[in-house]
Amino acid sequence: KKREIHIVGNWKMNQTLHEISEFFIQMTAMKMELKCKAWIAPQSLHIPILKEIAFTTGAIQVGAQNCSYADSGAFTGEISPAALADIGVEFVIIGHSERRTIFKEDNEILNQKVLAALKHNLKVIYCVGETLEERESNTTFKVIEEQLAVGLKNVPADKAHLLLIAYEPVWAIGTGKVATAEQAEEVHAFIRGKLTQNAEQTIILYGGSVKPDNIDSLLRKENIDGALVGGASLKAKDFKQLCTSAS
Ligand code: G3H
Repeated sequence: KKREIHIVGNWKMNQTLHEISEFFIQMTAMKMELKCKAWIAPQSLHIPILKEIAFTTGAIQVGAQNCSYADSGAFTGEISPAALADIGVEFVIIGHSERRTIFKEDNEILNQKVLAALKHNLKVIYCVGETLEERESNTTFKVIEEQLAVGLKNVPADKAHLLLIAYEPVWAIGTGKVATAEQAEEVHAFIRGKLTQNAEQTIILYGGSVKPDNIDSLLRKENIDGALVGGASLKAKDFKQLCTSAS
């Protein structure tokens, strides 16, 4: 593949300290030789702990699941992108569909978040994707075009290399209903075509019920450069297997 494969675990609001240490004990015991990038975004609270473990095990890079559009100030409960950069976080996920729907983040707010994170040289995984209703009413491409156009507005040319995109059809998240590799590839190619900067180099991840038994067919597609994985990233065995498939 011309672009490096990225397997990104999004742990969402899961994992106890005990589960985290078990995860890494198992990962270390499995002695991976990674040829892909393996990233994990735990709950913010656990980022420093993961960074410490990841430092000793070497292979995994750590990120956040969200950040604020502001660097500091009166934003109770928010996560500062400046603070994330300050503690050495590699990346941040912005615009996950759960942020869009549960926390009502729209494309304009997400654009501010993307720009704030890029300002601190954090890599940004910007998520896009249609709901089932949108797919069935044939508005998938329109919705995604808007998410890209507004969400990525004014990205400076010298920061475009920090940007990754994740295509996550909302109907495939946590449902066990994976998009077919063809359905995903069609949207990935569309997304790449819409990118105005760095299009050929940009990593575009697929997300939505990715498991060890469906990753291979997805990764065989020209425009699919890895996966954003929820459920299957919580188990060391599955996460390792995903990384192995990608190596
Ligand atoms: O960010 C990850 C996605 O929401 C996918 O979650 O793999 O549990 O379907 P899932």
